[in-house]
Amino acid sequence: MATTTTAPNAPLGKDMEEWDEFLQGRYQEGKSEEEFRQYDEHANPGVAEFYRLNHQHQTFDYVMGKEKDYFGLNKGMKTIWEAAEFLNTLVDDSDPDTDLTQIEHLLQTSEAIRKDGHPRWFVLTGFIHDLGKVLCLYGEPQWGVVGDTFPVGCAYSDQIVFPEYFKSNPDYNHPVYSTKNGIYEPNCGLENIHMSFGHDGYIAEVMKPYLRDESLYMLRFHSFYPWHRHGAYDHLCTDKDRSMLEWVLKFNQYDLYSKADTKPNLAELKPYYDDLFAEFLPPTLAW
Ligand SMILES: [Fe+2]
Repeated sequence: MATTTTAPNAPLGKDMEEWDEFLQGRYQEGKSEEEFRQYDEHANPGVAEFYRLNHQHQTFDYVMGKEKDYFGLNKGMKTIWEAAEFLNTLVDDSDPDTDLTQIEHLLQTSEAIRKDGHPRWFVLTGFIHDLGKVLCLYGEPQWGVVGDTFPVGCAYSDQIVFPEYFKSNPDYNHPVYSTKNGIYEPNCGLENIHMSFGHDGYIAEVMKPYLRDESLYMLRFHSFYPWHRHGAYDHLCTDKDRSMLEWVLKFNQYDLYSKADTKPNLAELKPYYDDLFAEFLPPTLAW
């Protein structure tokens, strides 16, 4: 857990699942943030260490560098299935008989959305929302792929989990980046701010030409818990952001609650998803 770098194709799934479980605990068990934080720091030091690294290293300069590396989408062309199969090579080092593959996790989310009768673009969003985790396979560290996201280039909110860890971040005392609005104009809109780097922003960039705003907000901001769960950063928001919040929250229920133990039947479901991808996306996409 405490590694700062990771080799491509290393067994990583377990670390990411720890973060998923942490999120579920944080928001499902009805504990206050403070209660959960205290509980977790002692009971699960790995998660605390994960956030310590994340908060220390997600500086404005780090984000700008990663956006330059990845937002040009120059990592090759892939279909959605190819990207999902690639993500599947992110090996889970725990028991393969009981644990679900990455594709099965994606299908659980999208199938839960589909069963509730939501529109097809919403089902698609459910399937693709975590495909950005392929960043791990490009050698990005865990703390730079998953975890809560937040704006950089302005003050870190105390509504971000483990806020005290930002004291080790060089931007914490920066003359501009440490101010409330930082480099941004008040109410400039979330689409115009730089978020801490991770799988959310990356998948939103891949999908930006093809999907509607509701979907892109779900993708880009699904781990922006300080905003969608805690109301932070409203001073940077527009009315559009505020109107999109309900969709992000609708999506968040499925992100948190759709993890069941039943294995989706990929062979049975594949034709439906082939049609779904073809309806909204070109056969291959730039990643
Ligand atoms: Fe995610």
